Amino acid sequence: MRVLLVGGGGREHALGWKLAQSRIITDLIAVPGNPGFAQLGACIPGIDILDPRAVVDLALANAIDLVVIGPESPLAAGVVDALTLSGIRAYGPTKAGAQLESSKAFAKSIMRRAGVPTADSRTFTDVDEAIEYLETIPGPYVVKADGLAYGKGVLVTEDLIAAQGWARLCIGGEFGEAGSTVVIEDFLPGQEVSVFAICDGTRALAMDTARDYKRHRDGGKGPNTGGMGCYSPASRLPDDLVDRTLDEIIQPVLTALADDGIQYRGFLYAGLVLTTEGPKVLEFNCRLGDPETQVLMTRLDEDLLEILASGAEGYLPDGPLRWHDKAAVDVVLTAAGYPDNAETGRAISGVNEVRSMPDVHIFHANTRRTAEGLVTAGGRVLNIVATGDTVQQARTRAYDAASHVHFGGMHYRRDIADS
Ligand code: GLY
Repeated sequence: MRVLLVGGGGREHALGWKLAQSRIITDLIAVPGNPGFAQLGACIPGIDILDPRAVVDLALANAIDLVVIGPESPLAAGVVDALTLSGIRAYGPTKAGAQLESSKAFAKSIMRRAGVPTADSRTFTDVDEAIEYLETIPGPYVVKADGLAYGKGVLVTEDLIAAQGWARLCIGGEFGEAGSTVVIEDFLPGQEVSVFAICDGTRALAMDTARDYKRHRDGGKGPNTGGMGCYSPASRLPDDLVDRTLDEIIQPVLTALADDGIQYRGFLYAGLVLTTEGPKVLEFNCRLGDPETQVLMTRLDEDLLEILASGAEGYLPDGPLRWHDKAAVDVVLTAAGYPDNAETGRAISGVNEVRSMPDVHIFHANTRRTAEGLVTAGGRVLNIVATGDTVQQARTRAYDAASHVHFGGMHYRRDIADS
């Protein structure tokens, strides 16, 4: 099977690494891919992955049998719709299905209809109405831009004036079209966790648990980031979390979407809060987590390509998914200035050394190959993933490997998976 992988981050490098091990794969290419992925297959530069026609043309020119899409934005741009119309099989939801992430108001309305537990909310397009409404509710206030704002569109605050200011900014155009509608929802106290599933339109198979570390510095300090590391399986979660999420959240959402004629065939990421009444949905994403994918792929004991190809056709195999009985830890190496203004162009050393270490994988997130060698190209630069019989063993291996990589301004948290 000839496979085209869309995306170029650490998540896609890890997906590509797993797809490349399939017994049915013959060719693997990525658009745009990255220097790490280039060890697995060709990387195609210069194609706009948000242009559905361009992705279709690339797939046709390469006689692709299955397109797998990693990030959310091509999905929201309708890439899967265009591929399907052209008779090319794709794994990822259509534009309508991707609204679960690209419109918080849409996600709320589906959840309401499906009876899925989530915070009560109201939707506004008028700034005065949003501001007045905020005066009638107690804090903390949760104000979200409706559309894709890449993690920047949400404010949670105790401060009414700040909440009102945020609603004004969103509706006033700070996030463009994505913010012209705002969703104001009740604050849900509790631990945040995520559950990921592979869906085929009517059924879902859940991934094992992973815990990520969002703050920039040790001890959960510093600004929020895309993710500074993670480990799997996650400890101290309720035993029934994954089953409850499938039964009470993901399955009813798939059914409600199907009732609207939307066959959701793609990854589904349920961002949850563990409340005293059970898991409630904070948000959905129509992609897998990054860096969670990087640890999950090293633990998945299945042929991922067979599963995604079946899912794209609407018939996943019977579950549950099998997992290697080992732990995995990912330490993310970041550039100076991340998450605000990451420095780029710094020479990276040690990558080949780490690649040859047993039980260690290095997944590239933002690197670039130049005539002088590998350099940094963004905030999260490399993922050092190690496996072991225990989380502690995997952790020791990951930190040992990380100590062999160097670039100017390199930073990483020292407390990933430390308890
Ligand atoms: N690790 C969180 C995310 O992918 O959004």
